[in-house]
Amino acid sequence: MPWQVNIFLLGTFVIFVTTVVAGESSSDDSRFSTGVGKEWKHDCADFNNTTWREFQQQRTKLQVQYLLLTRRNVDCAAMFSQDSLTNPQQPSLFDFSLPTKIIVHGYRALGSKPSWVKELAQALLRAEDVNVVVVDWIYGASFAYNLVVENYKEVAVQISILINHLQNHGCKLESFHFIGVSLGAHVSGFVGTLFEGKIGRITGLDPAGPMFRGADKFDRLDPSDAQFVEAIHTDSDYFGISIPVGHVDFFLNGGMDQAGCARSRFASILVYFPVYGYVICDHMRALHAYVSALNGSCPLTGIPCSSYEHFLAGRCLGCKGVLNGTCPTIGLSENSGITVSPIPEEQKVFLLTTSAPPYCAHHILLDLEVWPLDKSAEVEVTLKSKSLGTENRLRLSTDTTAYRRVLAHPVALCEINSIQLRNTGARFYRQAEIHVLSVCISEFPPIRQEKSLCVENLYVRRGTPWSHDFVLLCGSF
Ligand SMILES: *[C@@H]1O[C@H](CO)[C@@H](O)[C@H](O)[C@H]1NC(C)=O
Ligand SMILES: *[C@@H]1O[C@H](CO)[C@@H](O)[C@H](O)[C@H]1NC(C)=O
Ligand SMILES: *[C@@H]1O[C@H](CO)[C@@H](O)[C@H](O)[C@H]1NC(C)=O
Ligand SMILES: *[C@@H]1O[C@H](CO)[C@@H](O)[C@H](O)[C@H]1NC(C)=O
Repeated sequence: MPWQVNIFLLGTFVIFVTTVVAGESSSDDSRFSTGVGKEWKHDCADFNNTTWREFQQQRTKLQVQYLLLTRRNVDCAAMFSQDSLTNPQQPSLFDFSLPTKIIVHGYRALGSKPSWVKELAQALLRAEDVNVVVVDWIYGASFAYNLVVENYKEVAVQISILINHLQNHGCKLESFHFIGVSLGAHVSGFVGTLFEGKIGRITGLDPAGPMFRGADKFDRLDPSDAQFVEAIHTDSDYFGISIPVGHVDFFLNGGMDQAGCARSRFASILVYFPVYGYVICDHMRALHAYVSALNGSCPLTGIPCSSYEHFLAGRCLGCKGVLNGTCPTIGLSENSGITVSPIPEEQKVFLLTTSAPPYCAHHILLDLEVWPLDKSAEVEVTLKSKSLGTENRLRLSTDTTAYRRVLAHPVALCEINSIQLRNTGARFYRQAEIHVLSVCISEFPPIRQEKSLCVENLYVRRGTPWSHDFVLLCGSF
């Protein structure tokens, strides 16, 4: 099992890393205490952090603590505990009449606090008036991954005790929404198990894969853990889980390698541990895409399909079948916008994204038909809109004449003002001239009654790119 080897190496290597970057890992510029709550006076609370030495001394202690953020203290977290609920001297910021979002982080290789918590909490508070409770289980989550995995159920039990107290104060189980990152998704799943699936919602942001791939449903996040369970997959070949674990599972760019992240092909932790940021780029994309969706700049909508290959081949173009016409969207809308009942389980949906926030891409369907070729060929298709261009490579073979492919483009079809084809095949063993009978682009799922843009009967010679300008059609559909 390569992972076990890697985990071992990780454990050993961490000793080195923490020694080297001890100062760096605990310095933090994104403390919660950046601004002082104007209407609420209290000391701003922050995550605990731990060091390798501390960890070795007290590895049995979990030290779970909770931070509370609300619209009254967006910038300055308050410590939160079951005791503070019953203390009449200390009125809590927690509003029992509002829904509650619970953020659960995952594995922390260096024992430092997660840098993204504030951004996620604030995006949630901008989107909805809620209580945001952040679970800090840094002590149990740091250093050796295999030991961390042993802790996660105990953390879930502790969270469930807090939920029980909140229930006694009138909070309904369906008003809780857990957002779990990586291993935090399985922690959330186990809290859900403890409440027999009565919790409202669980969102798993690239739920952890290592040591969970073959796990029983009881031990990992699954659709029975809450009334609605969704997951976003972005690194399922490495840190994330590849199987569907929710009612709906969004696979971004196939769920493995993300646009704009360096490829993590070479599989030795030792090689790329020094560039930890690269390593977790794919894994953390789920979180960044989720925050971007909360920010609401554009929709991240998934299309149901049996596999990514079928999706890319243009075999799944809408949500008519199982989802009765409504495509699920990442974000806070009820059941991700799914209206069918009962809600399907383990429904895989696919979407392409761009490489930078807000990540939304338009899905462009390319249909290319060629005259039968004598040799194989390679074509580069470039779509252009103003300053934006997206390039895609297509391999053509001698036994097929019709090609269909789904491409990602940052803007809508009607803003595409040119298409370019280049015959990039090698000189001697590739087709020198390709006779294209037709090349068409269209957008899906169709928002309005959109046409496709087609050009017919053209020749693409090696070394001479062919291009065609379209009249901009925005507004005329
Ligand atoms: C964690 O931090 C809080 C304050 O933020 C402190 O009260 C508590 O003692 C710390 N726990 C440990 C184990 O250091
Ligand atoms: C985290 O570590 C930094 C640097 O060592 C320290 O200043 C800070 O007080 C620590 N925070 C907590 C909550 O222990
Ligand atoms: C979300 O919005 C906040 C505030 O406008 C911004 O700072 C943050 O970068 C945005 N994040 C993403 C991923 O769009
Ligand atoms: C599907 O959608 C149509 C109209 O949008 C609606 O009338 C019908 O009840 C829906 N079917 C199911 C099974 O939800």
